[in-house]
Amino acid sequence: MIWRPFTRQSERLTFRRFKRADAKALPALLDDWQVAKWLSRTPFPYSHQDGRDWIRISRSVLRRRRGYSLAIIETDSKQLIGGLGLSTETGEIGYWLGRDHWGKGYATETVNMITQLGLVDSDMPKLWAMVMPGNGASKRVLEKVGYLSPGTRPHRFRGGEQSAHYYHLQQWEWQAAI
Ligand SMILES: CC(C)(COP(=O)(O)OP(=O)(O)OC[C@H]1O[C@@H](n2cnc3c(N)ncnc32)[C@H](O)[C@@H]1OP(=O)(O)O)[C@@H](O)C(=O)NCCC(=O)NCCS
Repeated sequence: MIWRPFTRQSERLTFRRFKRADAKALPALLDDWQVAKWLSRTPFPYSHQDGRDWIRISRSVLRRRRGYSLAIIETDSKQLIGGLGLSTETGEIGYWLGRDHWGKGYATETVNMITQLGLVDSDMPKLWAMVMPGNGASKRVLEKVGYLSPGTRPHRFRGGEQSAHYYHLQQWEWQAAI
């Protein structure tokens, strides 16, 4: 497994751990219902304190080696544009981008990176994600990378339980595809 110091690059993006100085940029991205409404636990409205709390949690996830919780940086502009998570305990992945950064293929680039990190570099047998009905963009991203959905499952979502689309990808399927 690869832990700290962790930085990974894709064609246009840099993935690194959150810095304390990122806290003030988070509300500009996440205090937006069009983003938060698809995320299971993200507070809304989203305050500067929520940003500080998130950075503390995210750094602790890395420190305790429970997984990767990373900032997504647009390499050219050096701007923070989103975040991603990969639990090496459960195999769950997650990702989000600020609304100004949608539609440029960035999530697909991100999910490709997470998948390589989980299934190859961390030698995990399977990764999975839960997607709420109606989140067509997220389903499309997972499908483009090769994830398959066998159906729906109950999922804890924003304080309740809802039926969500379960997507998964096995290590052997990814290795056969690359
Ligand atoms: C989901 C999200 C990460 C996608 O980011 P993105 O960078 O715009 O995604 P990409 O550009 O890589 O790919 C999006 C794909 O979905 C398609 N798409 C966009 N809106 C769609 C919709 N409503 N229905 C179906 N497909 C849609 C795009 O056309 C594109 O597919 P294409 O390349 O075949 O044209 C972004 O919308 C987001 O952060 N949403 C809020 C948080 C979230 O939903 N996170 C995931 C939780 S499971």
